[in-house]
Amino acid sequence: MNGGLEGVVAADTSLTHVDGSKGILWVRGHTPQELIAKFGYEGAVALLWEGLAGSGLTRDGMRRELGRARLTAFAELPRWIEAARGRPLGDAVRLCLAALPDDSAPAMIAAALPVGVAALLRQRSGISPVAPDPGLTVAADFLRMLRGEAAPAPIAAALDAYLTTVIDNGFAASTFAARVIASTRASLVAAILGGYCALTGPLHGGAPGPVLDMLDEIGSREAIDAWLDKSLAMGERLMGFGHRVWRVRDPRADALKGALERLGPDAGRIAFAEEVERRALAALHRRKPDRPLETNVEFYTALLLDAVGLPREAFTPVFALARTPGWLAHAMEQQKTGRLIRPAANYIGPRPQAA
Ligand code: CMC
Repeated sequence: MNGGLEGVVAADTSLTHVDGSKGILWVRGHTPQELIAKFGYEGAVALLWEGLAGSGLTRDGMRRELGRARLTAFAELPRWIEAARGRPLGDAVRLCLAALPDDSAPAMIAAALPVGVAALLRQRSGISPVAPDPGLTVAADFLRMLRGEAAPAPIAAALDAYLTTVIDNGFAASTFAARVIASTRASLVAAILGGYCALTGPLHGGAPGPVLDMLDEIGSREAIDAWLDKSLAMGERLMGFGHRVWRVRDPRADALKGALERLGPDAGRIAFAEEVERRALAALHRRKPDRPLETNVEFYTALLLDAVGLPREAFTPVFALARTPGWLAHAMEQQKTGRLIRPAANYIGPRPQAA
């Protein structure tokens, strides 16, 4: 029995290649750095959806299609947003996705969270939602809908780099959940809602908020080692470190660190965070010398999303926003090529007396 299905190959995919022992991540044959520099988020969506949600897809065409879909998503806000008032943000995001009609097209599903998360964050501050500008990129328009005014270009570029970097990562738990749901021939909306729910746990997409909590709790350089030793002695996991697949440094951590550095030397408390990272890696190595535990994507995610001005409760919803096109690509690939996913279990319970 292989608890956690570690190393199990569950499907063929032409979407994303992950080799965690060599630090390789290719989305349709492109590294994270190439995706950021040459494609941007809309270009990465076009790459992932090519042959699944159309053919001859381009970055500009995807920008237009997602922009139009955001306008429709905004018109739909009154149908569900009052039900979200007063609910924790994670619950409210679930309502946003659950409100989508079952036959929604991929672009409509991908547009739900940029519009919905911005409107929900404004609702929590008691202010009205801001209508989308369909000509902007998802990153620039999300920040604009959130802030009520255009974000400075470097900030929008940093968020675009984040969305692009985390758009897909092979068979992550959330992606696998989406594929399992799609394999039953349930709708794409059902698959994406399931993917979102799987993402929200702290062992997956729920980690970046706690990374910032950790940095806040540590507080100063002098306190780093004592804080780390105490946490590890209590058996706690350090958020932002370790990964089921990435046994060497996650290449996405460096892509995000680069995006953060482009915001300037003081962005995201980067010098302090680097010191915590260095000492955390040393502490993990001392405690688990046989287990390669490296920095994962969530460590620099937390710093970057903080630096672009997002509140920490929004980190997981924004991860979901970024990942939705990846989940959609996998769900569509599963619908097109896959069989029903239905593994077996090893029964270890009681037997009937006669058996
Ligand atoms: N801090 C302390 N110990 C750790 C950590 C950590 N961050 N990660 C793993 N370990 C320990 C773990 O307790 C286990 O020890 P033992 O054998 O004594 O019980 C040992 O290392 C083996 O861990 P593993 O087999 O690598 O862990 P896994 O594959 O089951 O879990 C993980 C991977 C990401 C859930 C885990 O590393 C973790 O909990 N990290 C902290 C949370 C985090 O950063 N989550 C975001 C993940 S990246 C985003 C994504 O792609 O989902």
